[in-house]
Amino acid sequence: MEITTLIFTVIPSLALIIVAIQVIQLFSRRYRFIRLLESFPGPTPHWWFGNSDQTSGDFDSLLQSVKYANDYAGMFPVWAGPFDVMLLSVHPTTAKTILAGTDPKDEFSYALLGPWMGEGLLLQSGQKWERTRRLLTPAFHTEILKTYMKVFDSAIGEMMSKWKRANEPVEIFHHVSLMTMDSMLKSLFSHDSQCQKESKKFKAACETIHSYSRRIIHERRLKMASEKQGERELDFLDILLLARDSDGEGLQDQEIQDEVDTFMFAGHDSTASSLSWCLYNLAAHPESQEACREEAKDILGSKEKFEWDDLRKMDMIWACIQESMRLYPAVTNVSRFTEREIALPDGRVVPKGIRVGVSLFALHRNPELWNDPDTYDPHRFLDGNETSGTLYMPFSVGPRNCIGKSFAQTQLKTAVANIVLKFKLETIPERPPKPESTLILRSKDGVYLNVTTL
Ligand code: HEM
Repeated sequence: MEITTLIFTVIPSLALIIVAIQVIQLFSRRYRFIRLLESFPGPTPHWWFGNSDQTSGDFDSLLQSVKYANDYAGMFPVWAGPFDVMLLSVHPTTAKTILAGTDPKDEFSYALLGPWMGEGLLLQSGQKWERTRRLLTPAFHTEILKTYMKVFDSAIGEMMSKWKRANEPVEIFHHVSLMTMDSMLKSLFSHDSQCQKESKKFKAACETIHSYSRRIIHERRLKMASEKQGERELDFLDILLLARDSDGEGLQDQEIQDEVDTFMFAGHDSTASSLSWCLYNLAAHPESQEACREEAKDILGSKEKFEWDDLRKMDMIWACIQESMRLYPAVTNVSRFTEREIALPDGRVVPKGIRVGVSLFALHRNPELWNDPDTYDPHRFLDGNETSGTLYMPFSVGPRNCIGKSFAQTQLKTAVANIVLKFKLETIPERPPKPESTLILRSKDGVYLNVTTL
């Protein structure tokens, strides 16, 4: 065959055939989804952009999913372009059924997390996830969490000492993120990152995790072999290194590194988001702020610091934190890839081999489930009102709920109690936050508050 025939006839024809096969495959995938989802009506998608108004993550799109909750029987398809679809649950009955299973995470939605977290607990599935979850659970035991209170105290103290010097509005999201990063590094490695002192240290702290965690793990193994038990308080890394299966098998260095990265990034950002929105809501509702302050004063009494037993007395503070996480959940959506058909209580069946999401944001604002859902009212969380886990799930529910929930609760309560005691928080009406969900719920231009020393 002549070379010109090959270049001008055979190669283009082959390329055309390959493209045609791929187009046919894409369209058959589209029609397969349409057929499978016949019993799930939803908003009409644009033929090319799909329901992109639903997937942008801006506040309007989040609010839109709340409106759809009542239109489409608790679960509806959201098209991401012409060939890909996710079934989104916006009602507790469908959400609980989805979250009761252990289907793997949906790779498409969690793709951005891989480079940060490696193959840690959050992204694992099957037996590997079961084993890691079992090995890591003791790391969050109450006796361990108690020891972190002084870590939180010192990181919060550092942040508040910067606020004392502030003579202009503070962008709290940034400050709070540095603080939770600092706490996390200290809890993981007993590493004093000092990342709140200068922003450059923040970057250096991230690099510490990614570049040096291998070395730190190796050095810690050596140290543990040579020191006496009980010589120092254990941090997360010690606990990961000590974790053993029933057959005596522990985690390999690479597995520990992945878990360190996962704790770091699953933990510090979501706690920072929750605390920032909580402080914003307290600033916007001075009567709730004052009630928290009074409660904190009563609990602290003549002591210098809050103690572990004080945390369970913080009813009002916890109610304010919960109400804020209801309106502004740090994680607005979670999603899975179905490995089997899932029968819903209403008789419909979620097909196998499809992405399913649960909008925690929509559940928390559904007018069918909550009185006056867009109003900030911490009293709904006092005396056990409306708090049932079927309605409210900022840490998700089921076997894959948040393993760091108690760690986060401890840090949030300690932070809020200390902050309201020392500062008056006020919003800046001309600089309202603009919530948007980019992996976690942030604000487009930050969250600015006036913080005045009391
Ligand atoms: C207020 C703060 C926090 C919130 C709102 C939050 C929320 C969540 C949610 C909604 C999930 C489920 C994710 C999914 O199904 O895809 C989750 C899982 C997880 N969280 Fe948190 N989280 C917080 C703090 C933390 C902390 C402090 C840590 C670690 C120290 C942590 C570690 C994890 C891990 C490892 C998972 C995966 C669990 C599994 O798949 O078995 N989180 N979190």
